[in-house]
Amino acid sequence: MSQASVFLSACRCQPTERTPLWIMRQAGRYLPEYRALREKHGFMDICRTPELAAEATLQPIRRFGLDAAILFSDILVLAQAMGAEVEFRPGPVFRTRVDSPAAVERLAAAGVREATAFVPAAVREARGLLAGRTPLIGFAGAPFTVATYMVEGGGSRNFERIKSLLFRDPGCAETLLSKVAEATGEYLAAQAEAGADALMLFDTHAGLLGPEEFDRFAAGPVERVLARIRPEVPRIYYSQGTGGCLKRIGRLPVQVVGLDYRMHLGAARDVLGPDRAVQGNLDPAALLGPPEDVVRRTRAILAANGGRPGHIMNLGHGILPSTPPEAVHTLLETVREWRNRP
Ligand code: CP3
Repeated sequence: MSQASVFLSACRCQPTERTPLWIMRQAGRYLPEYRALREKHGFMDICRTPELAAEATLQPIRRFGLDAAILFSDILVLAQAMGAEVEFRPGPVFRTRVDSPAAVERLAAAGVREATAFVPAAVREARGLLAGRTPLIGFAGAPFTVATYMVEGGGSRNFERIKSLLFRDPGCAETLLSKVAEATGEYLAAQAEAGADALMLFDTHAGLLGPEEFDRFAAGPVERVLARIRPEVPRIYYSQGTGGCLKRIGRLPVQVVGLDYRMHLGAARDVLGPDRAVQGNLDPAALLGPPEDVVRRTRAILAANGGRPGHIMNLGHGILPSTPPEAVHTLLETVREWRNRP
């Protein structure tokens, strides 16, 4: 980033003249221009073609002028590169499950840089188009969440396979998580080297874990990933349903904690302390309600932050495909009008 960015300053808990805003899954099916791109190309083809991935990355920036761009890709691109073949229909479906020591053994941790060279290429392409005006976030799935998809072979109702693996054969689970963590470290380091301005880990399924298992199977592997990356690039850790593990999250080596919509932002900041920035946390479903509710709920979150430096406004989970783009304008205007009053 050549120019000063409210997003990057907020990541570092520095005071900003206004609160930055970006939106998880900001490029996607709620945008007509994305649906038009998808009529011509498959989802994975867009992810694997740097020019197309960069185009999808820029779509929400052109339309809304958000304060950060996030690379268009998916957390399961890495699982694919490790040899777990996945298709999107539209939810992810794996050809085979990684649920035995032999299947874990077959996964490739070496060679992911070569197999995912299109990702840093897309980072360079998108950065070229952003021209130093908007910072770019690179990302990966956190090891536990990626492992969950590998073991379940896709989405799941009650996650019985991954949970039974953790309690039945924790050694096998740890081997799997170590392999994924190693590959994820390489994968994120390559994005940072290509110029990503910040890095984010998505731990969507970490809320399946009690405190002891969260420490061992989610937080530990995240620390192993982050040990492999230069510490100057701001890091964001997002997880869902982990309010009970917030103290442990506060000890992760990250500058920013992404909050889901189940938590009170002010209460979370009280636990995390003044040195940790937070990101979030409007319920994505709020954007399906009346505009005056979007305004009221957005202001309530900004007020809960109470003018503390280090708040990045966002949703508490990805934007829903049925969201009217107009609702994003309402959110954006509400955040832009707000001035930080300590
Ligand atoms: O935020 C962004 O705009 C960047 C792109 C991005 C996508 N997925 C694009 C996508 C990011 C950051 C992700 C992360 C991701 N992927 C997560 C973590 C965040 C979360 O939402 O919990 C998870 C769990 C996945 C796995 C995944 N990918 C699922 C479960 C699905 C199917 C459900 C769905 O929403 O369709 C996907 C597909 C996917 N990833 C799409 C997009 C735009 C839709 C694909 C299409 O165009 O048909």
